[in-house]
Amino acid sequence: PLNRVTVVAPVNIAVIKYWGKRDEKLILPINDSVSITLDTSIMRAKTTVCSQPDFSENQLWLNGIKTSFTNPRLLNCLEKIKHLAADQQSVDPAVLSWKIHICSENNFPTAAGLASSAAGYACLVIALAKHYKIKTDLSILARIGSGSACRSVFGGFVRWHAGVESDGSDSRATQIADSSHWPEMRALILVVSDNKKHTSSTIGMMNAVKTSDLIKYRAEYCVPKRTDKMCEAILKKDFVKFAELTMKDSNQLHAICLDTYPPCVYMTDVSHKVVEMVHAYNDMCGEIKVAYTFDAGPNACLYLLNADVPRVLTLIKHLFPSSSSDFVTGLGDVEETETEFLKSFPIQPQTEDVIKYVIHTKVGKGPEIETSH
Ligand code: DP6
Repeated sequence: PLNRVTVVAPVNIAVIKYWGKRDEKLILPINDSVSITLDTSIMRAKTTVCSQPDFSENQLWLNGIKTSFTNPRLLNCLEKIKHLAADQQSVDPAVLSWKIHICSENNFPTAAGLASSAAGYACLVIALAKHYKIKTDLSILARIGSGSACRSVFGGFVRWHAGVESDGSDSRATQIADSSHWPEMRALILVVSDNKKHTSSTIGMMNAVKTSDLIKYRAEYCVPKRTDKMCEAILKKDFVKFAELTMKDSNQLHAICLDTYPPCVYMTDVSHKVVEMVHAYNDMCGEIKVAYTFDAGPNACLYLLNADVPRVLTLIKHLFPSSSSDFVTGLGDVEETETEFLKSFPIQPQTEDVIKYVIHTKVGKGPEIETSH
C-alpha cells in the first residue's frame, strides 16, 4: 500500500508583502501579495509522512529532533486533510485511524533566520494530501499552516489573492509566470548576524493590525495598485519597475512595523547599510540594477539579473569583509570582475559590519514529490 510519501518544497521571498490578517484561525490576509519561488536545489524543506496500523502515536521530527505533536497549526492542517479524505472517500477509512509519523528537515540552517515555515508547511500539506489521496487546492491547505506557505505550492512568480469570502475559499495562490519566464532573475540572500530574538511575523502583524493606522492605508490603497503594477512588470520583464516596486514595498512594510505600538524593529544597522549600498550602486549605474527586500528579520534578499551578480558580489565582499572562505554558497562559480569601481564607491567598509554568508540562487520550479512507494 501507498504509505510513505516524501516531498521537497521551496522557500519563497515576497516582493509585495503579506502583512496583516483579517482572520487569525483561517489565516486570511488583508492584502494580496506577490513572491518569487526559489530553487529547491539550494533552499528547501523536505518532509516524509508515513502511517501504519501499528504506530501507537503521532510523531514529529524537525531537523532530526523529536518534537511534540502539539502545534495547533499542524493539528489543524492534519484534521482538515483527514476531513477531506473522509468526504472524498479517497482512502480506506481504516487508514484515517492510523497514527502518522512526520519527519521534516531544511537544507539550510534554521538559525540563519530564513523563512522556513513557508517551505515547511507547503511540504507538509502536499505530502499529507498525497498520502491521503485527496484532490483539493493545495495552496488553500498550505495557507492554513502559514500564510506565506500558500505561495510555495507553485514555482516561478506567484500571487496570493487575499480573497473576500469569510471561509477563505477564494484566498489562494496562483502562478503569474513559471520559472522559465525570466531566466536571468537571481536572488542573493545576505545572512546577517543576529543575536536578538525578534517578534515573530505572526505576532508582529497581529500587533500592526491592532495598532497601526498606516497599515489600513497600505492594504486598502497602496497594495492593490502595486500588485497590479508588479504583475505587469513581471509579465513584461521590466526589471526597473519590478525593482522599484519591490524596494518601496519592503520599505513600507518596515515603516508599518515602526508605526506598530510598541514598535517592531526587524532591520539592523547592517540591513540599513545594505539598503544604502543598493541605492548607491543603482545611482552609480545610472539605472536600477538591484532591489532589496526584508522580511521579519535583518537578512536582505537582493533580486538582480545574472549579468550584475559578479559586480554586486564583489561589492558585498568589499563592504562587508568576512573571515569565511566559503562566503558565497549556492549556484556555481561566479566569474571575477574588475574592482576599479570600488575605489570611487561612496560607501566604504567598516569592521563592525558583518554579513555571515551569501546564498546565491535563482527562480525555482516549485515542489517535487520525490518518492512514493
Ligand atoms: C514578512 O507567513 O510567516 O515574510 O501566516 O502568521 O504564519 P503566518 O505568517 P508568515 O508571514 C510572512 C511575512 C513576511 C512577508 C511575506 O512573506 O509575504
